[in-house]
Amino acid sequence: KKKITIAIDGFSSTGKSTIAKLIAKKYNYIYVDTGAMYRAVTLFAKNNRFVTHDFLDKDSLIASLSNISLRFQFNENLGFAEMFLNNKNVENEIRTLEISQLVSKIAAISEVRKKLVAEQQEMGKNGGIVMDGRDIGTVVFPDAELKLYMTASPEKRAKRRYDELIEKGDIVSYEDILFNVQERDRIDSTRDDSPLVKATDAIEIDNSDLGIEEQFEKICELINQKI
Ligand code: C5P
Repeated sequence: KKKITIAIDGFSSTGKSTIAKLIAKKYNYIYVDTGAMYRAVTLFAKNNRFVTHDFLDKDSLIASLSNISLRFQFNENLGFAEMFLNNKNVENEIRTLEISQLVSKIAAISEVRKKLVAEQQEMGKNGGIVMDGRDIGTVVFPDAELKLYMTASPEKRAKRRYDELIEKGDIVSYEDILFNVQERDRIDSTRDDSPLVKATDAIEIDNSDLGIEEQFEKICELINQKI
């Protein structure tokens, strides 16, 4: 069977990673969560005080990019790969609301995108990959055999993200999460470099009212037609 490239793009918390993980498991593909890479660079910037809520030292971050090494390491128990920043497991640290509030600022920097896109293209050069993000079907793999564009209402997405964080024991308010989801949507889709847009050849899936099983079944049919 042919090992294809599957690109999944969409706004935050549209369930991209849930679907991508299921695909990777069923077809024995590599799954790459590109959001984790932007989040890890953001954590690096935060730790070095290059970014806060009202401050961004873009030049210092750009000058330090060569000191950032990112690596995914598969965790057998979890069933997915965890993010390592300079050899430290940062999987939990990159998922906080604070990082979510800073990441879109960092992701708008062209030099950051250039570095991460090159690494993503390298990881996917042999196919057999499912990658999720904002610019996968448009910039990273414009020739991907299958492109999906996931959408859902901001309220549904905020509720999902809220439930996830509460489950982990984080103390957050639904209003803050909803605000963050809408703010990231706005920044991600209006930035100059690689804004989130639906690739012309992407298949749109609105999952506001669609269960995981239903979506997955639909997507498997699409994959099976290509392999
Ligand atoms: O997917 P996730 O919500 O974890 O992504 C976090 C942020 O990283 C996004 O809001 C966006 O600013 C940025 N991102 C990006 N391009 C990608 C993936 C993520 O700009 N391919």
